[in-house]
Amino acid sequence: MQNTSLQLNQLGQLKHFLDVEGLSKELLTEILDTADSFISVGKQQVKKVPLLRGTTVVNLFFEASTRTRTTFELAAKRLSADVINMNISTSATSKGESLMDMLRNLEAMDADMFVVRHENSGAPHFIAEYVTPNVAVVNAGDGRHAHPTQAMLDMATIRRHKGDFENLSVAIVGDIMHSRVARSQIHALKILGAKEIRLISPETLLPPFIENLGATVYHDMRDGVADVDVVIMLRLQKERMQSALLPSEQEFFNLYGLTETKLKLAKSDAIIMHPGPINRGVEIQSEVADCDRSVILNQVNYGIAVRMAIMSMAMAGQNQSSLSSISDKGGEK
Ligand code: CP
Repeated sequence: MQNTSLQLNQLGQLKHFLDVEGLSKELLTEILDTADSFISVGKQQVKKVPLLRGTTVVNLFFEASTRTRTTFELAAKRLSADVINMNISTSATSKGESLMDMLRNLEAMDADMFVVRHENSGAPHFIAEYVTPNVAVVNAGDGRHAHPTQAMLDMATIRRHKGDFENLSVAIVGDIMHSRVARSQIHALKILGAKEIRLISPETLLPPFIENLGATVYHDMRDGVADVDVVIMLRLQKERMQSALLPSEQEFFNLYGLTETKLKLAKSDAIIMHPGPINRGVEIQSEVADCDRSVILNQVNYGIAVRMAIMSMAMAGQNQSSLSSISDKGGEK
């Protein structure tokens, strides 16, 4: 599902943000640099800049979320946009209205951006293909496929704590099979030039041919975390498992849970990350989640600045597209 042409306007600027795969290092770096410039907005007394004033952003979350939905809302508000959080369970979709009819009605209300989380892989791409020109679509996580804004906030966290990617070994641990976050992280780390990406997981939680993305697979966590700079833990995505893939959670924790003992094998200044929600005692020992090398809550905080960057860049790309289309037609009649 590579959608570079759908995501970029004629000038190569972002106009939708659906997937990290296929984007350039320059564009990902521009997102990170723009996000860095927004970090200070959250420290101001008045946490606002006027970049999206007059813009209407609609959050469409068809799946549960704490971090992503809230930080998208905060990001839009810090950009001075008007934000609508659709309550899907009380919307007219519960009366049988189709997704496309719902979108057409929101477009009729002059929405400028849809932020979409959906349990079906590809839903945000489908919406981006059919949405009215000049409306931006941002993927807030689709099925097992992609979670590109999460990957970008993870890259922002790594860059802020560890500097350039070229010298970094990064381990991603746990349920890779069902993780849209892991897929997007692998693409982002490859594009940004990470030295080494290690995937640590039992065979039953690895998708086939994952090594083809340019990562090395480990089944023994002690070997996998040895001397890494970054350890990213993943949640067991039980809601996406169709059969029992593990003997027990205790067994999983014994083999793949991040404990103080296993963490000692990583570099002494290695950082610990997790996209959340965390399950203490399942994939991570509680003391490790809360220790001073854990940057899990920093990830959440950087998520606001990264989403501000992506939303403002996509809206600018959409506006540029509409200007180009007016000039192609010889000016507005
Ligand atoms: N990391 C993440 O996507 O968390 P939420 O499901 O709470 O949004």
